[in-house]
Amino acid sequence: MPDRDLEKLREIAVSAIGDIREHYSEAQRAAWISALPCPEGWLGILRRQTVFPGWRNNNVVGFMSLTDDGLIDYAFIHPDSQGQGLFREIYQELESFAIEAQMPMLWTNASLVAEPAFKSVGFTAIEKQRVERSGIHLERTRMKKML
Ligand SMILES: CC(C)(COP(=O)(O)OP(=O)(O)OC[C@H]1O[C@@H](n2cnc3c(N)ncnc32)[C@H](O)[C@@H]1OP(=O)(O)O)[C@@H](O)C(=O)NCCC(=O)NCCS
Repeated sequence: MPDRDLEKLREIAVSAIGDIREHYSEAQRAAWISALPCPEGWLGILRRQTVFPGWRNNNVVGFMSLTDDGLIDYAFIHPDSQGQGLFREIYQELESFAIEAQMPMLWTNASLVAEPAFKSVGFTAIEKQRVERSGIHLERTRMKKML
């Protein structure tokens, strides 16, 4: 994916986190956003992963990213395009890729907002985690799916 599009994905992540209405307070959302890698670091990370974009009207409006060891590192849908099945669409592409690459399983550290979406595509929760972002604690759930 060209760097210009990868940069756009960071904006999608910022909008998606900023727009969360449940589970996380405003302070937690702000801490999460400020702990995202800086634009330069973001490019470096995503260039090393496989990125699966989601499209609406020829625009990238969401994405997931996958590491070589089966971690779904990022999963964000722009607020204007949430609740339309895009999560499942992108996930199906990612899973087909992972099966083709003979990955034995996929795993992720899901936000409490994303947990039901990952459950709906067959992931199970392994453990609750409490992580620190910019000095503030956030809960998330480690989840996995055997392929
Ligand atoms: C979480 C997120 C990626 C989901 O994307 P989305 O395209 O809006 O997902 P959808 O609302 O279409 O839901 C996906 C699936 O989960 C299900 N689901 C969503 N919320 C649910 C809930 N509260 N209970 C049960 N099922 C739920 C949906 O029914 C859907 O399943 P289906 O395809 O079988 O109908 C998106 O809302 C987002 O970016 N959120 C904010 C940032 C975030 O937390 N990102 C994840 C970081 S790990």
